[in-house]
Amino acid sequence: MKSTGKDLLWWQRGVVYQIYPRSFKDTTGNGVGDLQGVIEKLDYLDELGVDALWLSPFYPSPMADFGYDVADYCDVDPLFGDLATFDRLVTAAHQRDMRIIIDWVPNHSSDQHPWFLHSRSSREHPQRDWYIWRDPAPDGGPPNNWGSFFGGPAWTFDIQTGQYYLHQFCPEQPELNWRNPELKAAMLDTLRFWLERGVDGFRMDVIGLLIKDAQLRDNPPNPDASPDLRENDLFGRILQVYNMDQDENHVIMREIRAFLDAYEDRCAIGELWGPLDRWVKYYGETGDELHLPFNFRLMDGMSWDAERMRASVDALEAVLPAFAWPNYVLGNHDRMRLATRFGGPAQARVAAMLLLTLRGTPTIYYGEEIGMENVAIPPEKVQDPQGLNLGFERTRDVCRTPMQWDASANAGFCAPGVEPWLPVAGDYGQHNVAVQERTSASMLNLYKRLLTLRRATPALYGGDYQPVDVDADGCYVYLRTASDSRWLVALNFEHAPRIVSVPGESKGRVVLSTHMDREEPVRLNLLTLRANEGVLIALE
Ligand code: GLC
Repeated sequence: MKSTGKDLLWWQRGVVYQIYPRSFKDTTGNGVGDLQGVIEKLDYLDELGVDALWLSPFYPSPMADFGYDVADYCDVDPLFGDLATFDRLVTAAHQRDMRIIIDWVPNHSSDQHPWFLHSRSSREHPQRDWYIWRDPAPDGGPPNNWGSFFGGPAWTFDIQTGQYYLHQFCPEQPELNWRNPELKAAMLDTLRFWLERGVDGFRMDVIGLLIKDAQLRDNPPNPDASPDLRENDLFGRILQVYNMDQDENHVIMREIRAFLDAYEDRCAIGELWGPLDRWVKYYGETGDELHLPFNFRLMDGMSWDAERMRASVDALEAVLPAFAWPNYVLGNHDRMRLATRFGGPAQARVAAMLLLTLRGTPTIYYGEEIGMENVAIPPEKVQDPQGLNLGFERTRDVCRTPMQWDASANAGFCAPGVEPWLPVAGDYGQHNVAVQERTSASMLNLYKRLLTLRRATPALYGGDYQPVDVDADGCYVYLRTASDSRWLVALNFEHAPRIVSVPGESKGRVVLSTHMDREEPVRLNLLTLRANEGVLIALE
């Protein structure tokens, strides 16, 4: 794959950092993080070396799904601050040359959004059709067999008007009807609102769901459904055929993109899943849809395995059209912490090197840079609707716990004596930013080195990618090259040493090891990688 590196845009060259505002830094003493907290940590983020901040939702919300149930698309929930605080955040980030990406939740609103209150008030209300209402099935049950991602049916009956409304998440998240032109115009207006406030991009929530099958047909049963599924897991029992990723969705994507393109240098990122051949279509046939359909392939349903990771990257590189820019995600607010899921904390360093040296835009989830792990949440503290409905073992709270800033009470996330909205990790005394800043070989310093090197090295932020066949099992080796420099990345995914022979190369210099203890010339016909070690080598 060719890319020059020189004329790249900020969202190609840069690194995105996801902030879950509830859990980043509380400045008001209510145990919930806020936008002022983000402002106070901008210097930290600047020093870390990230280029763009993606903020998970901070809109007014009853918090049925912690902000992914939006009651007003054009305001800030008082929990997080107000519009003036948001404006200060944008200005302060831009002063540091950092971009602001916000979450946009176009598939569903809160059931407390005035639009939905109007819509449910009567069948005749002009906004009735802004949501998806259907008559009951002949037996009085839901109109079709779709299930909610969070358990139970995807339909709730409204007694007052005698119809069901669609919600593929909580019942408090009714789905908007993107086939209605007025709704569409109103949603595009919400984009305008933030674009004019200086927002640089949007992370668009469950963007593949916007358009549903026109006839809302039943989904087929899932032949591979696990027999262990909870009784209420209707979603797991069906294949997702008619509820997502409809061809007509691409028409909407192009309209959204054209809308953004009226503004300079903005970026559209979309949350998408699905098979590679369908996923890649979200770049648009001519690059006229999303800039970055989020690529979760390295973290989805995959074990931490060198061969499989390579296969995933190579498959992606092979399907991308020349105009399409890759991107990689290893963790977010919906998944287990990467240091917990991927080969344990020792391999989290290898994961960091992988994420920050592949060709394409990386997204770091807050706390990954200090190796935060899942935090066990006692059942009585579970907050996430997914955990409450589908079993505590499925709660996403485990990866949403307070950022660990220092060894003081509550890890410096909120004032001592205040109860944070989720428990702080038990080991925060050792695992926190302040300790890691003082420890030369810490995870935090590894991230900083990787980010500094990436930013300074055209081959790393913009060069070509080429996998290298090596005979050592459990190792993933690739080249990153630009016109004047060639780099080799060699990652040992095993908890045991490996010796790698790199064909066609003789000498190089280790510039960075994930162990942070060697910088030395090496021979590439006999390259030793210690257990859990990744190295970044400048080639001669
Ligand atoms: C996305 C979000 C997730 C949320 C869901 C419903 O998947 O990432 O956190 O629960 O959409 O909005």
